[in-house]
Amino acid sequence: MRILGIESSCDETAAAVVENGNYLLSNVIASSSDLHVAYGGVVPEIAARSHIEVIMPVINQALADAKCTFKDIDGIAVTNGAGLGGSLLIGVMTARTLAIINNKPLYDINHVLAHVYASFIKQSDIKDINSSKTPTFPMLAVVVSGGHTQLMLFKDHFDYQLLGQTQDDAIGEAFDKVAKIIGLPYPGGPNIAKLAEKGDPDSYALPIAKMDGYDFSFSGLKTAVLRLAQREAGVSLDFPSTKLSGKLSEAQKANIAASFQHVAIQTIINKTKKAFEEFKPSSVVLAGGVAANSKLRQQLNSSLPVELISPDIKLCTDNAAMIASLGCYKVEHNQPKADPYSLEIAPSLSV
Ligand code: KG4
Ligand code: ZN
Repeated sequence: MRILGIESSCDETAAAVVENGNYLLSNVIASSSDLHVAYGGVVPEIAARSHIEVIMPVINQALADAKCTFKDIDGIAVTNGAGLGGSLLIGVMTARTLAIINNKPLYDINHVLAHVYASFIKQSDIKDINSSKTPTFPMLAVVVSGGHTQLMLFKDHFDYQLLGQTQDDAIGEAFDKVAKIIGLPYPGGPNIAKLAEKGDPDSYALPIAKMDGYDFSFSGLKTAVLRLAQREAGVSLDFPSTKLSGKLSEAQKANIAASFQHVAIQTIINKTKKAFEEFKPSSVVLAGGVAANSKLRQQLNSSLPVELISPDIKLCTDNAAMIASLGCYKVEHNQPKADPYSLEIAPSLSV
């Protein structure tokens, strides 16, 4: 069974073909990320316009790379939430149209849930994508992305509970905001990770938010970094934050990046360990854009008694392989189809 996945929830336009949930036949991603650098973050109108321009070439490329035509495809899976309204609309309207004209079943996909399914891809025809170990149930899933930070416990496919989530900023958002404070370009996460390698994670003591149960909070940490940068730069609280980085030395910036990353990672480790001890899952999956952070992968892995399962780095950030994979499992588990004449976008969809 082959599913074509389509993803357009933020600034990546992506299409992929996945067979039986775990075999990746093609994976095409066009990012408008470069167009947003000048603005320091994603501009929804620019992202939407760019999806319109590239979505059909991206889909056609994904089919060609998989050596498929629509005749060989058993269904179309599309992200309908969560995400930016204008961006989601392009993917959903394209998928609806393709489902109608090719007479294929359509499946609506929750983007956050799909991040977890990137871990189910264990084989690939694409040479630079390495497979991961297949997760087993019960499975603890840690989703760390630009829009979400949550812990989920899966008894089985489509049988899961949300244990906790961020009550304010997502961890990726904190990486991006801290990057701005110290003058690193968008997207901040990978740039913080790179600069942190030159810094000392113990140079500054930053706070770990004390949240009940399995909830998270990152906005206090972000403010603590802002105050620290102001103090180190020797400026007052009303000094424009956009000019702050010009007052900091390279060593100070590297130390701030390393200290922030250390606390952000420790926050995830603490809650994941607590959930592991309480629920004793048979596998732990780390997914979402921030899962591309190699320090987080290494440190979380060594703090757990089981081997951490994390997708190939290229499948951590937004892609359509994860959308197609979850689509395959929806078919296999007789989950409801979407109506191609009425599927709506759901920008604030939760799990
Ligand atoms: O999953 P994703 O591509 O999009 C959302 O669904 O939000 O995640 C994007 C986030 C951004 O905040 C980006 O800065 C962060 O993932 N990110 C990283 C790294 N690579 C991407 N954060 C930390 N370290 C990285 N290496
Ligand atoms: Zn995402």
